[in-house]
Amino acid sequence: MSQSSSTLLLFGATGDLARRMLLPSLYALHEDALIAEDLRIVGTARSEMSDAEFREMAREALDEYLPEDRKDEGKIGSFLDHLQYQPLDASTIEGFDDLAEKLGDISGGLSIFLSTAPFLFEPTIRGLKSAGLAGDNVRIGLEKPLGNDLASSRVINDAVASAFDEDRIFRIDHYLGKETVQNLMALRFANAMFEPLWNANGIDHVQITISETVGLEGRHAFYDETGALRDMVQNHILQLLALIAMEPPADFDATSIRDEKVKVLRSLRPVQPDEMVRGQYGSGAVNGGAVGAYEDDLGEPSETETFVALKAHVENWRWQGVPFYLRTGKRMAERRSEIVVQFKSVPHNIFAERGGKLAANRLVIRLQPEEYVRLMVMAKQPGMDRDGVTLREVPLDLSLTHVFAKARRRIAYERLLLDLIDGDPTLFVRRDEVEAQWKWIDAIRKVWSETDMKPKSYGSGGWGPSTSVALTERDGVSWHE
Ligand code: BG6
Repeated sequence: MSQSSSTLLLFGATGDLARRMLLPSLYALHEDALIAEDLRIVGTARSEMSDAEFREMAREALDEYLPEDRKDEGKIGSFLDHLQYQPLDASTIEGFDDLAEKLGDISGGLSIFLSTAPFLFEPTIRGLKSAGLAGDNVRIGLEKPLGNDLASSRVINDAVASAFDEDRIFRIDHYLGKETVQNLMALRFANAMFEPLWNANGIDHVQITISETVGLEGRHAFYDETGALRDMVQNHILQLLALIAMEPPADFDATSIRDEKVKVLRSLRPVQPDEMVRGQYGSGAVNGGAVGAYEDDLGEPSETETFVALKAHVENWRWQGVPFYLRTGKRMAERRSEIVVQFKSVPHNIFAERGGKLAANRLVIRLQPEEYVRLMVMAKQPGMDRDGVTLREVPLDLSLTHVFAKARRRIAYERLLLDLIDGDPTLFVRRDEVEAQWKWIDAIRKVWSETDMKPKSYGSGGWGPSTSVALTERDGVSWHE
């Protein structure tokens, strides 16, 4: 592994992501002594602020976002000592020399985390390069959105590549920092029992759901420009799909894993018009409270989708004929991220004559809000039935939250920030992966525009438009709810 950087530079340091996620994550790393005592964390953004004022802002963010039982005055104080601040207007080149001066000696390595508006990407890269902040010992983490189609993502990727080699570029998909997502690999490749069945002979279909109860959350302009397909499927859902569908990598290292993921992404068949559903939330009730429609939240008419369901196919030997049903949406019945692997039925039911009905095995991998892996198996219901056998589906349950009760649940950015500082790219997305993702997504959007496919309205607090139910039901499959 590369050497850990001695300085971390955060662009967008006063923004929402920094306050909600990055600063609390860095505090957590400090709390557990996972970062060096002398790591310098330099924040930068447009606002004029002194080091002391930035520390004060960080203190307020920790106060707001840390759970009460983790607020330790001593540790917060020593964490704030790591922080410094340099104001910078990233759209002009001038300020970058001052930034370099503030950073001073970066011979111990510099990790940069870029969480800024997309239009600032190019000027920022240019500024970093001209100020000598893009040398061999500098790596850069890029937060989404990295473009909104293949062409614009290429422009950003080219701009970054003009200053940084690919092995120093860390594209963030925060789903990869989630513990249960990493556990997918452990489940598949640290156990012998799943892999022999993990193909078209053993698996009937796969479902991936990321449903949210939240709506726009104040991100009006961004969300309305983006929509659910680009906000969630292009990145998080496709990464989950790639981890489920990939071949066993030769090694647990960045190149081997990403080589296998990209093969899956490139094997995705273009989605047909009857394999896609677009939806937009109408009014309804979520968690017992009345909520308005998307267009009311937005304040204007819109044709942006807040829900999407797709039937995807990975065209290779392993997955021939196995549908991957994908769906995500805002203002749905519950918050849930989940993968369901539906196995095939047994070839012959020996209990049929005695009334024993069988359900095929199902593996449910719940990423959030709970974290568990549950294998549904058939068992005989206890009893002395003389002429029948009553069989029931029961869960073989691995509650990760329970088994690892002592381990604190970490937010994804803790892992990703630590890996960025340490220079471990395994959980970051490589350029060829991103481009394969965009290519597939662009083709879907092309169908939408060619067929003039508008989003169908669905009631908030439900599971999306009825056409989403029809998408699976016509294959004899029900969404797991
Ligand atoms: C982000 C999307 O990438 O992921 C948001 O931009 C979404 O719209 C969020 O709410 C969901 O992340 P999580 O970790 O809460 O499932």
